Amino acid sequence: MKTRLLRADQIAEAAALLRAGEPVGMPTETVYGLACDAGNPEAVRKVFAAKGRPADNPLIVHIASLSEWEPLVKGIPPLAGKLAERFWPGPLTMILPRSERIPAITAGGLDSVGVRFPAHPLAQQMIREAGVPLAAPSGNRSGSPSPTSAAHMLSDMDGRIPAIVEGGNCVCGVESTVIILDDAETVRVLRPGFVTPEQLRTAARRVIVDQAVLSQVTAGTTVRSPGMKYKHYAPAAAVTLLCGSREHILDYLQAKQGKDVYALVFDADLPACRERGIRAVPYGDTDEARAAAFFSRLRELDALGAGHIYVRAPRTDGVGLAVYNRLIRAAGYDVVQTDACEKG
Ligand code: TXA
Ligand code: MG
Repeated sequence: MKTRLLRADQIAEAAALLRAGEPVGMPTETVYGLACDAGNPEAVRKVFAAKGRPADNPLIVHIASLSEWEPLVKGIPPLAGKLAERFWPGPLTMILPRSERIPAITAGGLDSVGVRFPAHPLAQQMIREAGVPLAAPSGNRSGSPSPTSAAHMLSDMDGRIPAIVEGGNCVCGVESTVIILDDAETVRVLRPGFVTPEQLRTAARRVIVDQAVLSQVTAGTTVRSPGMKYKHYAPAAAVTLLCGSREHILDYLQAKQGKDVYALVFDADLPACRERGIRAVPYGDTDEARAAAFFSRLRELDALGAGHIYVRAPRTDGVGLAVYNRLIRAAGYDVVQTDACEKG
């Protein structure tokens, strides 16, 4: 099967494929997704197969109007309604008990379903023209960096799915914020994203960032979100995350230089890297810019044949928390505190 790239004016073809139970690549404001009819178990099976995704990792269901939400869940608590009003359409996924409209396979066997109303106009158009809610995990092969362009998705999925709708580069670049409600006033962040804990606090009395966001899930722990237990987002190269002051990070990088070693640093670090002979690639100077760039940079460094990528860690507040969360997983939790290291 050759995978076709469809333009915005060919959405009717994408919708026909979706109605026929086929998976189709879908641009969203976060990352590209691999969409299918959320209510069709056979279509969902094809999505799991194309990604090589473990069957216990549930898919997010995408809607294009608020009225589509209610039939998918067993009731919408007032706090969820308030969050929808405040953040939808946008990069927020809310997990609630699922109705029988959502097949068990879509939910990875859980009793709940994550629902999201994406802001990207082409995603909304695909959902509307397909006429059904669309289940869509990120459009990468399981374990690889998420695709932020149609070209990235094609390189993972060519020959495995019939089509991808082209919608340019994703503006957020990091997947949606996934939340669950602990009680009527408490939001728990299971996966950080562009909607930050700080922003959620403007709508909810309590916002808890789940401990799995910043630390490794150890064997035997029950995870609220199955995706948190898998190694994720990893390029072929080894990745190490460097935390510490800029000077110490530069010292560390200088000492690690080798033929297939690359540094992923902030834009402002480039002149100093050049002076010290550190082979470096920039990934932005703000949390938002880094979020939009880092998956793409990891793929580019793989293409350059990088053996080891040392990444200057972003901040862990605001959107930086989402980037940090993905990077520690890409690094397999190999985090070095450079300030505690020997100099040189
Ligand atoms: O921005 C996004 O969310 C993108 C685009 C395509 O919308 N989708 C995406 O899907 O990132 P995926 O499947 O790559 O990540 C979904 C995450 C996984 O970690 C999964 O375990 C968690 O959300 N999740 C989904 N449904 C859940 C549920 N019912 N309970 C707990 N966790 C859930
Ligand atoms: Mg994913």
